[in-house]
Amino acid sequence: MWIPLEELKPGMFVSSFDLSWFRHPFVSSRLGVIRDQRLIDELQRLGVRHVEIDPARGSKGGAACHAGQATPDAFEHTTEGFGPPPRFDPPQAGRTEPAGATADLPPVPPPTDPARTARFARKLFDQAMRSTRKLTRGVVGGEQLDVDELKDLVGHLISSVHTNEDVLHNLLLLKSFDDYTYTHSVNLAALGVLLGEAMQLDRNALEIVGLAGILHDVGKCLVPKELIAKPDKLTKEEFEVVKQHSRLGHEHLRAQKGVDPLVLRATLEHHERMDGSGYPHGLKGDAIHPHSYLVSIVDVFDAITSDRVYHGRVSAHTAIRTLFKQRDKAFPKDMVDLFIKRMGVFPANSVVQLRNGCYAVVSRQIEGSPLHPEVIVICDENRVSVPRRRVNTRRLCEEMGRKEFEIERNVEPEEMTCPFLSQGGA
Ligand SMILES: [Fe+2]
Repeated sequence: MWIPLEELKPGMFVSSFDLSWFRHPFVSSRLGVIRDQRLIDELQRLGVRHVEIDPARGSKGGAACHAGQATPDAFEHTTEGFGPPPRFDPPQAGRTEPAGATADLPPVPPPTDPARTARFARKLFDQAMRSTRKLTRGVVGGEQLDVDELKDLVGHLISSVHTNEDVLHNLLLLKSFDDYTYTHSVNLAALGVLLGEAMQLDRNALEIVGLAGILHDVGKCLVPKELIAKPDKLTKEEFEVVKQHSRLGHEHLRAQKGVDPLVLRATLEHHERMDGSGYPHGLKGDAIHPHSYLVSIVDVFDAITSDRVYHGRVSAHTAIRTLFKQRDKAFPKDMVDLFIKRMGVFPANSVVQLRNGCYAVVSRQIEGSPLHPEVIVICDENRVSVPRRRVNTRRLCEEMGRKEFEIERNVEPEEMTCPFLSQGGA
């Protein structure tokens, strides 16, 4: 239920508000129970005009919960899947859905409908996979690139990030089940649009980074396949051949019609690094375009969180730590910080073990508490399945001193032999 901000009172549960993510300091627009007037004043100061309240979880009339009390949603039994945090920006007048290869897709569903969101993400993912397979065949077969079809696809990703970001988080989970070559391109487009929106890029720039995400590795189609698929470590000479893919991709795309110069540049520069350690030209600092940095950050994140022929994936948490260490070395600090803020220290869908031994899946971030997200407990310390229980670790750990609910450690994918700990497939 959406209400004007003037009607918001302490005790009400706020599940969303009408301000884009990058215009407010909170990790999520889901604020939970409003504890006192100060937060309402802050929302007013930020320019919030309407908020969505959940009368079932707070008080419609306000003042049901008081600061310092253990609120009812510190524990909550749930049968939900492991979706990312809900998010809703009210539709804006004049926004149009793209037409073309994805024209048969239904409109982006609201985040309040997780089942439709997951179905929509699957359809969008399938269409994206068809488009990227066609792209690969076209490169190998020397056909002209259909840029409009790819723009159409990216348009749906942009519509999703504006309307229901959960679509993209669902889509990103599907990578476990398909070929890395294609899913990597789709993931980079989705992650690029997510980070681009966090950077306040306009629609044209979002389209550029989305297209660059899809096309950045197109040159790999022009490198001997046995090197790309080689399960063993490449020799120095073989690696030099593989490194040619960014230059080959750039040359190939330059000969196509309608490819934006910044997409070409990101394709050429996506392995360049801020400290000059990258390739093909060893560029440094500002010589590398921001869009190229954006693509390279999400490229590293997706590559190390994916299973490859020559290495298993690491958790999203470990990938975030890897990127953190590269701030102001390989990548601009501000851009990495924004990406981490977007994904969280323990990103949604990470598996963690609590201090009490239980295993849980991170369900959403909690504003101001990067180490205390909301989680869903799924297994006990012996990895025996338990009824799923949603736990607000911030309330338990910070307010109630229940330190046994601290996150003890991140759980890496290779540990996930228990079926209840398998990630993916919303
Ligand atoms: Fe690459």
